[in-house]
Amino acid sequence: MNPDQQQFEKTGARHIGQSADGIAKVLAPGTVANLVCGFDILGMCLDEPNDLMEIRLLNEKKIIIHSADGYPLPLDPAQNTAGAPLVEMISELGTPTGFEVTIHKKIKPGSGIGSSAASAAGAVVAANYLLGNIFSKKDLVRFAMFGEKVASGVKHADNVAPCIYGGITLIRSIHPLDIISIPAPDLFVTIVHPQIEVRTKDARQILRKEVLLKDAIRQWGNIAGLVAGFMKGDLDLVGRSLEDVIIEPVRSILIPGFDEVKSRCKEAGALGGGISGSGPSIFMLSRDEATAIHVESVMQEIYNRIGLDYHTYVTTINKTGVKILQE
Ligand code: HSE
Repeated sequence: MNPDQQQFEKTGARHIGQSADGIAKVLAPGTVANLVCGFDILGMCLDEPNDLMEIRLLNEKKIIIHSADGYPLPLDPAQNTAGAPLVEMISELGTPTGFEVTIHKKIKPGSGIGSSAASAAGAVVAANYLLGNIFSKKDLVRFAMFGEKVASGVKHADNVAPCIYGGITLIRSIHPLDIISIPAPDLFVTIVHPQIEVRTKDARQILRKEVLLKDAIRQWGNIAGLVAGFMKGDLDLVGRSLEDVIIEPVRSILIPGFDEVKSRCKEAGALGGGISGSGPSIFMLSRDEATAIHVESVMQEIYNRIGLDYHTYVTTINKTGVKILQE
């Protein structure tokens, strides 16, 4: 099957993970958008962290949102990153169908690890599951982008697509939507999340609207090199393509310690990395777990010295995306 048209297995029967009263529980993973050079067009799914979501099917056209752990999430469905995609989905269905969503937020909003995308993707995958998987993955990305519009003012798919498809995805175009799964190598990912909030909307507003041709040429070389590196399994090529001459020089100013983290993690053996999504998290790719853990200790040492609270994760690339949990 053409992977761009990937479909979930359609079945009218009750599913594993769906209880008799029409409830599905899902783990919605974090994602790293941009992958340094691919602003708005490349993204990668993570095994950790994950949001936990519970979704119940309703037989009326209504969306109800609950925040389980006290995050001040907007509860108006049209303003909620899980709600807005479901509003679109039920309006397309045109039947008396709705969903009640409970979100256990583990991926902090404003972290740069795809918090809004996890809510959007988790909601649409679970809803589709409860409906008997009538929508394709591409349809789900189309719905989930409405959640990104709520969060950042712009429909971008570089978090929701990897969250739904798993692995690494290229968004060649969003009008029309053209999503390509790229083979993901077995790399380790180290992430540091300095505890400051950077709103994607703000991190987009500070970007320059024009780029120099010489910078564009360098960026195209890096994007092509990164994709070729993943396709060929050439990790040295992946490492030297993790360079961003357009977005990072502007956004990195918002992240204390960024330059030092990047250079010292590379010295410690990381292949490379940069800002995760719109920041403030920073991610680094490593060939093996020992290096990824060493890289984590370098990040910890830097933020301890700076005196800024942080969380770190050492994880791997999630190849399957949002996971329906077995009851
Ligand atoms: N591509 C988006 C941005 C991702 O960098 O603004 C946000 O997570």
